[in-house]
Amino acid sequence: MMATTGTDIDKAAALLNQEQLVAIPTETVYGLAANAFSEVAVLKIFEAKNRPAFDPLIVHTASIEQFNQIATAIPDQAYQLAEAFMPGPLTLILPRATDVPLLVTSGNDSVGVRIPNHPLTLNLLKNLNFPLAAPSANPFGYVSPTTAQHVNQQLGDKIPYILDGGPCQVGIESTIIGFANGEPEILRLGGLALEEIESVLGKTMQQVKTSSSNPQAPGMLSSHYAPRKKVMLGNIAELLLAYNLEQVGILSFARPFADVPAAHQVQLSVAGNVHEAARNLFSGLRYLDAQPISVILAELLPEIGLGRAVNDRLRRAAF
Ligand code: TXA
Ligand code: MG
Repeated sequence: MMATTGTDIDKAAALLNQEQLVAIPTETVYGLAANAFSEVAVLKIFEAKNRPAFDPLIVHTASIEQFNQIATAIPDQAYQLAEAFMPGPLTLILPRATDVPLLVTSGNDSVGVRIPNHPLTLNLLKNLNFPLAAPSANPFGYVSPTTAQHVNQQLGDKIPYILDGGPCQVGIESTIIGFANGEPEILRLGGLALEEIESVLGKTMQQVKTSSSNPQAPGMLSSHYAPRKKVMLGNIAELLLAYNLEQVGILSFARPFADVPAAHQVQLSVAGNVHEAARNLFSGLRYLDAQPISVILAELLPEIGLGRAVNDRLRRAAF
């Protein structure tokens, strides 16, 4: 059974007011949303996604003024980043306000806060008197959805409504910044480039080391964001020598490869643009995952701008 899909904000709001789930568009990826202040509603997210309770949810709101419903003791640098980049593909991890149930934060005293930059979802949030807890709208561990169809294919039988805002314009999850030691640190590379953040803060930042078993930030698990097919990462021309050409799919940055059927190939950006590549990454992985091939050969992008975040996701998909 498929979910109803449409652009009806009143319908979405009515369902959310009844503690139901609604899939929502954002500029990064689609989210699976529920009333962040309702444990009953939030529990449905974990059930629909088959998500372990140790993986905390991001709370979405419409404006910086509403942050103090969700968080307390917000550092100056958090406001500085929020003013510069929100609404936008950035999540800040802040001390949790008591109204946010511990179910949302997986028992943490911190909470992820984000203002998504999508007109439908911003309008929806303005019509609600609570913020929305929303993880990416995919089964736990799989590739995030960047269209309403992606959501419907995997979660359509578990949710009553998908708000269809078209294909996501950034296409990769938000960049996550924490302040655990008072200073901003990158917890997850994402849709806001490191260079932009550094230019606002006026300093270079370290990324917190990925751990394969860090329960604090499962979005950073070594194996995550993964298609079902095996992904091999490296020099595609060299990798091709080891495989039957009928059996491989290719996810390349810009150029096609001779001798492999075109239907088994995705170029992330023929123009070699890292933003366009990020926008096409997850739909490309999904497409290849559905082809009659046994392995996906992929290559890294240049380590600049969103290329860094795309590479992060490719490494996790290949792990
Ligand atoms: O772009 C995005 O961020 C999308 C859209 C829907 O907003 N959301 C998203 O959510 O990617 P999700 O649940 O797939 O990833 C959220 C990740 C968690 O896996 C965790 O790593 C981190 O955010 N996170 C959330 N709350 C946290 C907290 N209190 N402390 C540390 N990490 C947290
Ligand atoms: Mg996710």
